[in-house]
Amino acid sequence: MNKKNEDITEKKENVGSGVPRRSVLEFLLSFSASAVVLSIIYPVVKYLIPPKSREPITNFVKAAKIGDLKPNSGLIFRFGNEPGILIDTPQGELKAFTAVCTHLGCTVQYRPDLRHIWCACHNGHYDLNGINIAGPPPRPLEEYDVLVKGDEIFAQKRQ
Ligand code: FES
Repeated sequence: MNKKNEDITEKKENVGSGVPRRSVLEFLLSFSASAVVLSIIYPVVKYLIPPKSREPITNFVKAAKIGDLKPNSGLIFRFGNEPGILIDTPQGELKAFTAVCTHLGCTVQYRPDLRHIWCACHNGHYDLNGINIAGPPPRPLEEYDVLVKGDEIFAQKRQ
C-alpha cells in the first residue's frame, strides 16, 4: 500500500467520530490485555502473601452455664473457629478439651455408656484425661482449663 492509499484509509476511519478508530481499538485491546494479566497475577499474589490472621486467636471462651450439663454427659461448644467439648464426669468434675480428633479431625463426643470420649469417624477412644486409649488417634486431645465464675463455665487454653 502506498502513502496516498494509507492516508485515504485513515481518513475513512476518522470520518464522523473525531477519534481515530484504530486508537480506540488499540486502547480497548491494551485494556483487555491488562485486565487478563491482572486477573492472573492477583490470585497468585494473594496466595503467596496470605493475610496475617483470619480470626483473632482465642484463648478463653464461655463454654456453658451451670445446669447445662448433668454428671456423665458432655457438651460441644465453640472455641474460636474449632469445636471444644465440656464434660461433666461421672464423679462430677468438669473437664474441657478440644473436640477435634487428633486422627483426621472429626468432632469427638462424650459416650455416657463408655464413660469416655469417642470419635465416631474411625472408632477412636480417649479417656477422661484426653489420652488416646484405642483406635487410630495418634495423640491425646489438648486439654483446657475450666473456670467457673458465678453460674458460667469458661474454658481456657493452657499456657
Ligand atoms: S478422625 Fe477420629 S478416629 Fe479418625
